Amino acid sequence: MSNILCIGAGYVGGSTMAVIAQRCPQHRITVVDVNAERIAAWQSDRLPIYEPGLDEIVFSVRDRNLFFSTEVERRIAEAEIIFVSVNTPTKTFGRGAGKAADLQYWEKTARQIVQYADGPKIVVEKSTLPVRTAEAMERILSSGRRGVEFDVVSNPEFLAEGTAVADMQNPDRVLIGGHDTPSGRRAVETIAEIYAHWVPRERIITANLWSAELSKLVANAFLAQRVSSINAVSALCERTEADVTEVARAIGLDRRIGPEFLRAGIGFGGSCFKKDILNMVYLCEHYGLPEVAGYWEQVVRMNEYQQFRFVANMLSSMFNTVSGKRIALFGAAFKAHTNDTRESPALAVCRALLSERAEIAITDPHALENARADLGDEAAKVRFEPDPYAAAAGAHAVALLTDWPQYAELDYEAIFDRMVEPPFLFDGRNLLDHQRLFEIGFNVFPLGKPPLVHQP
Ligand SMILES: NC(=O)c1ccc[n+]([C@@H]2O[C@H](COP(=O)([O-])OP(=O)(O)OC[C@H]3O[C@@H](n4cnc5c(N)ncnc54)[C@H](O)[C@@H]3O)[C@@H](O)[C@H]2O)c1
Repeated sequence: MSNILCIGAGYVGGSTMAVIAQRCPQHRITVVDVNAERIAAWQSDRLPIYEPGLDEIVFSVRDRNLFFSTEVERRIAEAEIIFVSVNTPTKTFGRGAGKAADLQYWEKTARQIVQYADGPKIVVEKSTLPVRTAEAMERILSSGRRGVEFDVVSNPEFLAEGTAVADMQNPDRVLIGGHDTPSGRRAVETIAEIYAHWVPRERIITANLWSAELSKLVANAFLAQRVSSINAVSALCERTEADVTEVARAIGLDRRIGPEFLRAGIGFGGSCFKKDILNMVYLCEHYGLPEVAGYWEQVVRMNEYQQFRFVANMLSSMFNTVSGKRIALFGAAFKAHTNDTRESPALAVCRALLSERAEIAITDPHALENARADLGDEAAKVRFEPDPYAAAAGAHAVALLTDWPQYAELDYEAIFDRMVEPPFLFDGRNLLDHQRLFEIGFNVFPLGKPPLVHQP
């Protein structure tokens, strides 16, 4: 039996440790956080994050071999393996502001580990970090006066929110980076053995520490790049009467390209893509590679442009003003099957419409609480409405912003009847049946396809 500790009870720490606890009943796993409210929520019937399948797992292993606690110091002393999954947001101040990773939470954790550890430990970087962070981690850990031995291993997390449990249960690969020394190799093998309880050995790959750290940034950069690429194409489609869905299908059947991540929409969101690309941009600048930095930065700019374009299109279609008009926003989460609204394009669209003085009613099946918190002062100007039909009542337009599948199943005739004439529907995710909506009477604006507009 091993005592495993995870510092950081967020989207990553909570989901990954729940699955490890389920798959490895012989290990005792504790997840700690400085946020007492979050820990209390993990201990309650209403978990702090929404992920399909997560409740069942947590409820089955909690207090058996999965524990949640705020006692960071004591738990550090007990643990043999410490996963660190604290947040690593973009720096908002000083050198590198707006691009570099803010490592203050991560460094505090390293200092706590060195202060309270009294025996050898394997420290696992699960947070996404700039390449060569392990070097700094090792320097802090070796500064301890007690002479405790630490092995630092990089095990970046590739799960996606919305499918976190399924991704953990059946990962494409698990990546573990370590030093090529006897104790480094032993540490990598110890972590590999945990995953080998349910992941086939050929999918557990090892690498040097720097490759492992960098691979996570590169994976997110490539994924985000595909989103920005197809969104760039959607803009061209709108000018040429090509259809972005048809183009995506045609190119996705090429095995060298593949079909995934080719859906045009209002852009990527979530806490990771933007911050990780900007982190990579900062690293490229730091290492004297401005052309490489500029290449990746454009992926983020294209994402912002797509949201700008969507709102500009709403404005021009609605007679160049939305001031005082009710607009119903369907979706607040950055994508379906999560309650996460961090960097959500839906909230970016919401803010842009508020600045045009639209009256906003926003609906979402799981993310309204987080949306309210993220909108801050602007939340007072927004109506948060769990029922999409009520949100659409009296609206001039509906804008679909999150690809929740239930939004495709709504009764759009009933929605049409509740709206102001002529009703507009902007499908920011190309989720709906546009022809049918047009036949109901909507003026329909998909993304990257010709609009369907009734002539007066
Ligand atoms: N969210 C994702 O989909 C995802 C996927 C892969 C990797 N990652 C990476 O994993 C890391 C965590 O992401 P997240 O989404 O889980 O973040 P999160 O903000 O949901 O959770 C981080 C938690 O760490 C806690 N924390 C911060 N400092 C602490 C300290 N000193 N001691 C104890 N707890 C502390 C915070 O209170 C917070 O609850 C980030 O580096 C992120 O880039 C995230």
